[in-house]
Amino acid sequence: MRKPIIAGNWKMYKTPQEAVAFVNAIKDRLVALPAAERVVCPPYVALPGVQAALAGTDIAVGAQDVHWQEEGAYTSQIAPRMLKGLVKYVIIGHSETREFLGVTDEMVNKKAQAALAHGLHPIIAVGESLAVNEAGQTQQFVGRQIRAAFEGIPAEALANVVVAYEPIWAIGTGKSATGEQANAIIGSIRAILAELYGHEHAEAMRIQYGGSVKPGNMAEFMSQPHIDGALVGGASLKEDSFVDLVRIAIEAKGLA
Ligand code: PGA
Repeated sequence: MRKPIIAGNWKMYKTPQEAVAFVNAIKDRLVALPAAERVVCPPYVALPGVQAALAGTDIAVGAQDVHWQEEGAYTSQIAPRMLKGLVKYVIIGHSETREFLGVTDEMVNKKAQAALAHGLHPIIAVGESLAVNEAGQTQQFVGRQIRAAFEGIPAEALANVVVAYEPIWAIGTGKSATGEQANAIIGSIRAILAELYGHEHAEAMRIQYGGSVKPGNMAEFMSQPHIDGALVGGASLKEDSFVDLVRIAIEAKGLA
């Protein structure tokens, strides 16, 4: 049984003070829901405060991106070893970084390898644009992203990797895929992972859905067999709604 994983991607929201107040307000309620893995991914500057506020709990912290180099003249970037001790997870290849920061499939692969080499757990995000979706090319497109992201990643590392399928047209738009559509694409991702690593590894990997997930549609996604959790933007920024998402995931997976 794959443990569901609900990750809040806070994007460029919340100051360090707001971030700490937020986790302090919800941590007891989240600690009471251990059947799912719970992750918050604040902006970099809030990581130390959030990490300290959650120390001693099993709520994990994640970063929203990472560079692949050890260090160097890369203005604005953060190296994997700078995140050590602060985070367990790091989101890699989010569509907003692909779109606004020029992150390519090759960079996603380098970031994932560097993160793993430093003991960080990548959440590798993939997903198609509306144009690709309407052209009926989603499976091929996402399949290529997956093959590129996992190039050179050994099977032994897979237990530390999570995949997030996030159709770009569903992110922040209020337009989500249906549970069945998302399940079909995530099933096709799992089939590619099985081809690359074998059935057992593919079955053990956790694959999230993301894109306008909210308490009102969470059960629809979580009741699908291939969907192991959610990567959530907007609905993760509100205290009650993030706690509700975790609770609904646990109920829908029959883990309550
Ligand atoms: P959304 O964002 O939940 O606000 O659509 C999801 C994401 O970008 O990870």
